[in-house]
Amino acid sequence: MKKFPIAQTGVAVTPIGLGTVKLGRNQGVKYPTTFEIPDDKAAANLIAHAKALGINLIDTAPAYGSSEERLGKLLKEQRCDWVICSKVGEEFENGKSSFNFTPEFVRQSCHRSLQRLKTEYIDIMLVHSDGNDTHIINHYGILDVLAELKKQGLIRAVGMSTKTKAGGLLAAEKSDVVMVSYNIEYKEDEPVIDYCAAHDKGVLIKKAFGSGHFCHNPSKNPIQDNIDFIFSKKGVTSIIVGTINPQHLEENVSALTLKRQNHKIGFGYV
Ligand SMILES: NC(=O)c1ccc[n+]([C@@H]2O[C@H](COP(=O)([O-])OP(=O)(O)OC[C@H]3O[C@@H](n4cnc5c(N)ncnc54)[C@H](OP(=O)(O)O)[C@@H]3O)[C@@H](O)[C@H]2O)c1
Repeated sequence: MKKFPIAQTGVAVTPIGLGTVKLGRNQGVKYPTTFEIPDDKAAANLIAHAKALGINLIDTAPAYGSSEERLGKLLKEQRCDWVICSKVGEEFENGKSSFNFTPEFVRQSCHRSLQRLKTEYIDIMLVHSDGNDTHIINHYGILDVLAELKKQGLIRAVGMSTKTKAGGLLAAEKSDVVMVSYNIEYKEDEPVIDYCAAHDKGVLIKKAFGSGHFCHNPSKNPIQDNIDFIFSKKGVTSIIVGTINPQHLEENVSALTLKRQNHKIGFGYV
């Protein structure tokens, strides 16, 4: 799979990435059905499948339960094959989320992620917002703290997973990459994607399939429709798909291939 650069960072990612909430957490999530967290064999199989499909991007976070620790073990022998995206700011303990955006905690969290992921650097580090995007950026100077960690060589690209248009725009201005929600039914962050396209910033898409809620409508083709929609938008770098089903991952990659074959792809593809 072709890779696309994230700003001027030297990090390049495939247009589909693997989201790993479901590898580490099944409580307090908004998926349409309950699920069992995959065991080690199934998790290794999923990673191997993603790699065989040509995917190089994997998204995790301290808030995804045991996800970081599991990836540390699973990717240890293949670290160079992956672009790892993790986050700072949200914690998930005893079934509950909490947030801490102070500089001290951000530095500590970054070092803990390095340890858990058994790596000397994290390719992409995002702020994991609680929804107060602009306050987090302005009050805590959090993107400056991440920039400092980038200067130290611990992170290669910095950015924020945002929940508001204003926050997305501010984060895009001050960093390398944003992660925003985008799909046929949620287009509020389009101005953020437009800004990123105009200013050479990376855009990672979360909730491409409405956290799976779109997939439960048998009368439509939600996978192809949303992939066609998302990749028609100039500026989108990659979608992070949160699946634990290798067949679903394959189906998503096939939908992207079909989109490319139909020459309907936007940024970077034609
Ligand atoms: N930073 C943040 O604030 C934030 C928030 C949310 C998500 N994220 C990241 O973005 C990733 C994706 O978000 P998400 O998991 O909420 O939403 P999503 O990717 O829109 O949806 C994932 C759901 O769709 C299902 N699915 C995927 N492909 C399918 C297919 N081909 N056919 C049928 N069902 C399919 C998955 O079920 P199966 O497992 O059964 O395939 C899963 O339940 C997360 O894993 C995480 O890495 C970040």
